[in-house]
Parts: sequence; C-alpha cells; structure tokens
Amino acid sequence: MKVLHVVGARPNLMKVAPLIESMAAEAAAQRRSIEQILVHTGQHYSPELSKLLFDELGLPKPDINLNVGSGSHGAQTGRVMIAFEEVLKEQRPDLMLVVGDVNSTIACALDAAKMGIPIVHVEAGLRSFDRSMPEEINRILTDQISDWLFTTEKSARDNLLREGIEDRRIHFVGNVMIDTLLKHRDAAVLRGTHRRLGLVDKAYGVVTLHRPSNVDDPCGLRSIVSLLVKVSHDLPLLWPLHPRTKSQLERSGLNTSLSRSNITLVDPLGYLDFICCTANARMVLTDSGGVQEETTILGVPCITMRDNTERPVTVTHGTNVLAGTHPDAIWQAFKNHPHAAQSIPMTPKFWDGKAAERIAKILLN
Ligand code: UD1
Repeated sequence: MKVLHVVGARPNLMKVAPLIESMAAEAAAQRRSIEQILVHTGQHYSPELSKLLFDELGLPKPDINLNVGSGSHGAQTGRVMIAFEEVLKEQRPDLMLVVGDVNSTIACALDAAKMGIPIVHVEAGLRSFDRSMPEEINRILTDQISDWLFTTEKSARDNLLREGIEDRRIHFVGNVMIDTLLKHRDAAVLRGTHRRLGLVDKAYGVVTLHRPSNVDDPCGLRSIVSLLVKVSHDLPLLWPLHPRTKSQLERSGLNTSLSRSNITLVDPLGYLDFICCTANARMVLTDSGGVQEETTILGVPCITMRDNTERPVTVTHGTNVLAGTHPDAIWQAFKNHPHAAQSIPMTPKFWDGKAAERIAKILLN
C-alpha cells in the first residue's frame, strides 16, 4: 500500500506526525508492507514555521519538496496544483492524506480527485459558517471531494450530514493535534522557555494573532493592539509574531508603540517552546484554531479574538471563550474569564492521544 501525505503550513506538521507513525505501526502489526511518501508543498518555508518543527516532531524529511512559497490565494493554490499533479502522476499512490484547512489542503485534494485517487481528510467537518475566511472555503470543498472524512468533534458530523455527505464516509476518531500535544507535553513544560524570556509561571499571558480579518486592516489591528497594551498593564504578555502580523505591524508603525508596552515580542517559537509558554501561562489570547484546542487540553483559560469558532467543543467542554474582536468585549472576557479562578475543563471525547491509531486501523482494515 502506497500512501502519500501532504504538508504545507505550520499547523499541518503536528497533525501529520502521529499519522505517519501510526500508519507504520498498524501496518507492522498487521504484517503488511506500507510505503509512505511525504510531500511538502513549501507554502510555509521560513525555518521557524517549518524546518524547526520537522526536527522537533521527529518527522521524516519530506521525500518531495514543491517550494511553492507565498503568493495570493489564487497564485499559491494554483502553483501547488500544477506541481502536485506531476507528483501524483509519478507516484500513483493508493491513498492520499490531507489535513486541516490550508490552501495546500484543497489544492492537493482537487488534483487527487480529478485523477481518481482516494482522498482522506483528517479534521473534516469543522465549520465557522463564515465564508469570508479562506479556510472555510478550503474546508467545505475538501470535504465534498474526500472519500474518508475523519472528524474531531460531534459538531463536524452534523455539519457534514447537512451538506449531503453520506454517513458511511464519516468517522469520528478524535484529534490528531492532541495526539502530538500529549506526546510532547511533559517534556515541553519542563523546558523553562518562559523563564528564559523573563516571565514568571502563571503570571503572564500569551498572544497569537494572524488571521487576515484581524491583522490585514490597519484600523482593526490598531484597536486590538491598544487593547493588548491595556491588558499588558494587568498581565505581562508574550507575543510570538507570525510573519504576516509582523509585517502589518511594521507597515502601520504599531511596533514602536508596542516597544513601550509590557508585551514581549518574539519571533515564532518552535513547537516545544510554544507549548511550554502556553502551558505555564495564566491566559491565552488568540485567533488560531489549533491554540483553542491545545489550551482546552492544557487547562489554560483561552480568549478567542474572533466572532466565530469552527471548534465549538472548545467552548462547551474546554477553556475557550469566544470574545469577538471588539476591544471592550475582549477586555470583559479578560476580566471575567469563567475559567480564570479555577480551570476544570472536560476532555472532549477521543482527545486522548489515540486519534491517529484509530485512523490507521480504519484505513488499513
Ligand atoms: C496559513 C493558513 C492558515 C494557518 C496559518 C498558520 C491558508 C489560507 N492559511 O496562513 O490557515 O492558520 O498558515 O500559520 O492556507 N510567510 C513567511 N514565511 C513563511 C510563510 C509565510 O514569511 O514560511 C509570510 C509571507 O509574507 C506571506 C504571509 O506570511 O505572505 C502569510 O503566509 P500564508 O501562507 O499566505 O498564510 P498564513 O497567514 O501563514
């Protein structure tokens, strides 16, 4: 059996690592031979968004690099499609696995669908119901053309059934990103990264912000930055800057006002350092999908600076509060976070470190 895995952007790497490992382990247990090919589209190419994570997660070096780089959505998606079609022609896999919702996910899925290669979508069915998000378009379309849809939470099956996808294609298996978190958590927490950055256990917050809707509009970015400066007078903040956000802050001249705040700006952290800083934080303010999930398992109060979440289980079972993007609402969430005094999250079903094992069993049977 020849299986081809695709990674493109940072959040894909944590999801693919346990899949490759579990597919190999399940094949060995069944005494079957399996060839796994890893393709990196190169959507993310900066070392701190890609190479460093490969090393930390123990991912094998990609067998094929497409080096597509950045660009507009059309250009980036198109470049992946053109390059990846050649890979599929040459490799002819029995199965192609894509994860998440980035441009590389839909580009590779489209190629495979047109060549009749069975597609597995891991993290299927999540919906923000906000079609202005590029990821929402990528999710809906990838799910429509996938053959196996592996879901992380109950809402995902409901969404897929509503969109006309047959029940037999949907498998509720849990969350592969949490597999990776649980595997590395204990070692990560002990790294002391936050202390090296001058921060004290549970006496600081972590910020991540990269959604185009939050950072591309200078006005919106300015009001979020003012709010974060205000928060930092109550709680010092650590803010690892995504390249998109960094360039927008520089462009709008906001980096100078930040340098006079109680916010520590750093380059994107490696996976283990980021988990260390998150786990030891008192609170996290984010617009990332994955961070909402990670804080739920780490039991760290999370404020999501978005109007919607495609991951509602992090609100109903986890530590997440959906605050919206208005500074007053974020401030209220900061001051009155329900999990701030005592965090008692319920673990969402199957977020137990075994999601990739379940996927491997289903695919190899
Ligand atoms: C992408 C994903 C998003 C995911 C995020 C995680 C899509 C539509 N978006 O958004 O879902 O949450 O990755 O980080 O696929 N850049 C670098 N180095 C890199 C990559 C990008 O400097 O390695 C810069 C480029 O200037 C680029 C900008 O960051 O224009 C944005 O990168 P891009 O891949 O377009 O989208 P992300 O915002 O990273």
